Amino acid sequence: MKGLFITLEGGDGAGKSTQIRNIERFFTEKGLVVVHTREPGGTQISEKLRDILLDNRNTEMTDVTEMMIYAASRAQHVRELIIPALERGEVVICDRFVDSSVAYQAYGRGLGDMVAEVNRHATGGLRPDITFWLDIDPAAGRARAAKAGELDRLELEKLDFHYRVYEGYKKIAEAEPDRVKRINAADTVEEICSNIYACLEKLCEEKGI
Ligand code: TYD
Repeated sequence: MKGLFITLEGGDGAGKSTQIRNIERFFTEKGLVVVHTREPGGTQISEKLRDILLDNRNTEMTDVTEMMIYAASRAQHVRELIIPALERGEVVICDRFVDSSVAYQAYGRGLGDMVAEVNRHATGGLRPDITFWLDIDPAAGRARAAKAGELDRLELEKLDFHYRVYEGYKKIAEAEPDRVKRINAADTVEEICSNIYACLEKLCEEKGI
């Protein structure tokens, strides 16, 4: 595929939105078309599934149901939006992707290997060219997220859940160091941006962009 697929990952309050805007600027300044999207969400069907997933009233949702709705939302998103954009040669910047399911559902909920297996079907094997993991301590991230507004169903989980999610991200980053770039989210916004830009320059060089 001709385009570039970039994903951002991290716990609550890691500051992904600010960096997504910076990444968008990096590529628009190069004259490339950028598609900014998110998971769960990004298409009409996926956004409906997002509402179900994040609704605080859905306290009876089982872990397997949750994992499969995230995957269903992703299956639609990949085929309806992401792959067509990549085929047109565009840059797709996605706020969260499969790594979120591995961190939150496999590690956080304890569902294990089943999550990667289901997601292989959901994505049809599509993988990001590069992933930025904005690494923030779960307690600090939660405090930031709580300041920013009301917490959703996942954010309301106890802190030990968020520490398991954090362990998940660490394992993913260790297993795939070429794809997953760990970014210290405790740095200043400017430092974070310049670390990300350095990785993007390298990626563009490799891809001849
Ligand atoms: P969102 O408001 O997008 O959170 P954030 O601003 O932190 O990115 O809500 C998405 C929530 O869903 C977030 O708590 C992480 C969770 N999530 C999963 O548990 N599994 C997944 O596969 C994805 C994509 C998100």
